[in-house]
Amino acid sequence: MATVELVDYAACEQALKETTLRQALYDEAEIVLDRVLVTLHGETHRQRRLAVMKVFRRDFFKHYEQEVIPGIVDDVLGGFPQGASADIANLGYRCLVDLAMRFAGLDRRDDNTLSRVEETRKLVELLRLFGVSATLGQSIDRDREAARREIRVAVDVFDQSWFGPSLSRREALIASVLRGERGEDTLPMDVLTVLLRNRETLELDRPALLRETAFFFLAGAHTSVHSLGHIVHHLLEWCEAHAGARVQLEADPSLLQRFVQESLRLHPSSPVAIRIALEQTAFTDGQGAAPGDRVIINLRAANRSCERFGADAAEFSPFRVLPPGVDGTGLTFGRGMHACLGRNLAAGALNAGTESGLQRGMLTVLAHRLLCRGVAADANRQARLDKTITRETWATYPVVFSR
Ligand code: HEM
Repeated sequence: MATVELVDYAACEQALKETTLRQALYDEAEIVLDRVLVTLHGETHRQRRLAVMKVFRRDFFKHYEQEVIPGIVDDVLGGFPQGASADIANLGYRCLVDLAMRFAGLDRRDDNTLSRVEETRKLVELLRLFGVSATLGQSIDRDREAARREIRVAVDVFDQSWFGPSLSRREALIASVLRGERGEDTLPMDVLTVLLRNRETLELDRPALLRETAFFFLAGAHTSVHSLGHIVHHLLEWCEAHAGARVQLEADPSLLQRFVQESLRLHPSSPVAIRIALEQTAFTDGQGAAPGDRVIINLRAANRSCERFGADAAEFSPFRVLPPGVDGTGLTFGRGMHACLGRNLAAGALNAGTESGLQRGMLTVLAHRLLCRGVAADANRQARLDKTITRETWATYPVVFSR
């Protein structure tokens, strides 16, 4: 079987939309991602996506961005007084863990065996391990069998401590709705509840429910946390080089959102999407794939296309002027059947304008709060990229707070 690599923007966009190509980026991620939304294909995928889309409502996103996230972020940042140092990935996970749980349908434990801080630490550990599972196919120099063993243990812990109790609680609530004791609108609005309500039609057994909940837990936090590292890096470099920029960015969230989107364009969460051709497929750049061929969709290269984004496409240039209709984040959120459901939550609505009440995205909210706390690179500790993976990810990004 041949491998075809696409780098041209239009061909990459077309490939993402082709239904003759199936998802293959996560073929080694079966422990957590076997037959979950992002790895399903065809009618089964369509049915499941339609069901969970109910949770991804605009008003719900808005509520999160404007009412939930700022409180969580302030709470987490409150633990870091002036002069304290922190790691951006760790901070990001701590800010997003509750959000990811809420979307997925996972409850915090109520048995008092762990303090809230300790529980958060364990949940972040699980998120990191599920992240390792999802990217096992892109890892370098990692003992994959040892990693699999560790991930299986993590899945068991996840099941016993969080998924199992959350499942039982929702099953009991649904049973009481069916007995007419409470209204449908009193049920939690989350992925696990929606899947349970459609369990028969979607043919979901317990292991399938567990994996889908784990996937949404991961999707709600992992990519955003890694994007936050790149955003902070670009912001700090920019503010260092441009006097007065920090004050301007703190005062203008719509400007900050443009910076966030420019960083997202340069750093898609995975540099490539991978598909396998199910049928003969011709691409707009003249290449083609036969059944069984592997198609590498180079998102990073496409997002740096000079034709589409200008001669300085590889540079961080938040004030670049784009022709009408060009998506400022490029292909970072995918296209077609697997297009990201959390896009507006993470990055806000495109061209949100300046009116109040429009979505800027939680990454802008997070970046804004960090700037307002005077975030700066920690002069005593070096930021380091993760060399164990072909993704472009900061393994550690130490910062200090001057306010
Ligand atoms: C910066 C943040 C994010 C980035 C860069 C990102 C990127 C992506 C990409 C590229 C895909 C498509 C994968 C493919 O085609 O192979 C995707 C799918 C998905 N994303 Fe995101 N994502 C982000 C945040 C989120 C958030 C916050 C959520 C949930 C709250 C989310 C939920 C999903 C889901 C459910 C899918 C699967 C959709 C499907 O297969 O039908 N994402 N994301």
